[in-house]
Amino acid sequence: MVSTISGFSLILFIAAVASSISAAPSAALVGRKVFDVRSYGARGDGKTDNTMAFTKAWKDACQWKGLPRVYIPFGTFYLGAVAFTGPCKSRISFIIKGTLLAPKDPNAIKQDSWIIFRYVDYLTVSGGGILDGQGSYSWPLNNCRQTHNCRALPMNMGFQFVRFSRLTRIKSINSKMGHLNFFSVQHFDITRVNIKAPGDSPNTDGIKIGSSNHMKIHHVDIATGDDCIAILSGTFNLDINKVNCGPGHGISVGSLGKFKGEKSVQGLIVRNSIFNGTSNGVRIKTWPSPGEPNLVSNFLFKNLQMIDVQSPINIDQRYCPNPPCSFQSFSKIQIRDVKFQNIWGTSTAKEAVKLQCSKNVPCKNVQLFNINIVHRGRDGPATSVCENVGGWIGGKISPPSCIR
Ligand SMILES: *[C@@H]1O[C@H](CO)[C@@H](O)[C@H](O)[C@H]1NC(C)=O
Repeated sequence: MVSTISGFSLILFIAAVASSISAAPSAALVGRKVFDVRSYGARGDGKTDNTMAFTKAWKDACQWKGLPRVYIPFGTFYLGAVAFTGPCKSRISFIIKGTLLAPKDPNAIKQDSWIIFRYVDYLTVSGGGILDGQGSYSWPLNNCRQTHNCRALPMNMGFQFVRFSRLTRIKSINSKMGHLNFFSVQHFDITRVNIKAPGDSPNTDGIKIGSSNHMKIHHVDIATGDDCIAILSGTFNLDINKVNCGPGHGISVGSLGKFKGEKSVQGLIVRNSIFNGTSNGVRIKTWPSPGEPNLVSNFLFKNLQMIDVQSPINIDQRYCPNPPCSFQSFSKIQIRDVKFQNIWGTSTAKEAVKLQCSKNVPCKNVQLFNINIVHRGRDGPATSVCENVGGWIGGKISPPSCIR
């Protein structure tokens, strides 16, 4: 009796193992599915409006349980404004092999970015393709250098409320305003991305990040007309490694202190990067406004080469891009625990190291370690400027530090 039961359950056990072996691989094969935009009517002729086709392909892929991939083959795909919205049923890939072409007219895009991914987790955007914003048609309309109330033009690609995701091997060119926009994004890797627009194209920030955390930007080349990377309110734990920046305005934190409800920016590393022909290297900028108190802290800028950079190290708490500004008030933003280590190269302006902090809340614990920036000009060697800054120095410091 006992042996019969155990013999019976052994057979059941073998049957269960056998069925799981045969079922597992076929389930995975069924799960993997390509959603080629051409099967939804898309055409890579540079003229056909592919907005509907892309939207339908995304919707089907997003509902697929398994491993869906939206696939855009080689070719030039004209695309209007799109929002690829989740949540999706599974991890999802968006593979761009060809070129996506934006409308020339910015009025055709009534959202903050031309291509938006929103409320998606476990997304991969990759494929080696190109996002062409066709910005040269709208740059002449940009009057943001003349007026504060200028109209915002769309950025090339935006990620909003996206988590555990990555963007890799994509090129963004000639955006109307900025190229890549991240808002409320968590655990996101940007790698092997190439960003390109002329150095004199207006407001073409490379990567703009706000209210986001746990992001990595590695092996990224940025040549553009505004900040290579702009880090805004509410961003923490951001690791920037091996970035080439230039032309452009450098890597900036801020501007901060202009709007209500801004959050702190904490935990930033910028390392092993090259700034070539940029107006700034690494910069923290806050308005001299009587705004709300805020904190900027725990930054490390390490192993950075500056090639003909106007202002390689720049803390600017009297940020005023369009003078005249009122300097009656002082920034209420506390900057503290900021380290600059192993930064070398050349500056085109005499004041190579600028640490101009707020009279209201002086900078605390700013550290300089092994700085060697050379300025060659009739106006003499490089200098440092300090205002309201406390901290310490170590290693060799040139130009001589003014921190005391
Ligand atoms: C810096 O930029 C100049 C001008 O574009 C270029 O010729 C040079 O090779 C660049 N240097 C480095 C080290 O990338």
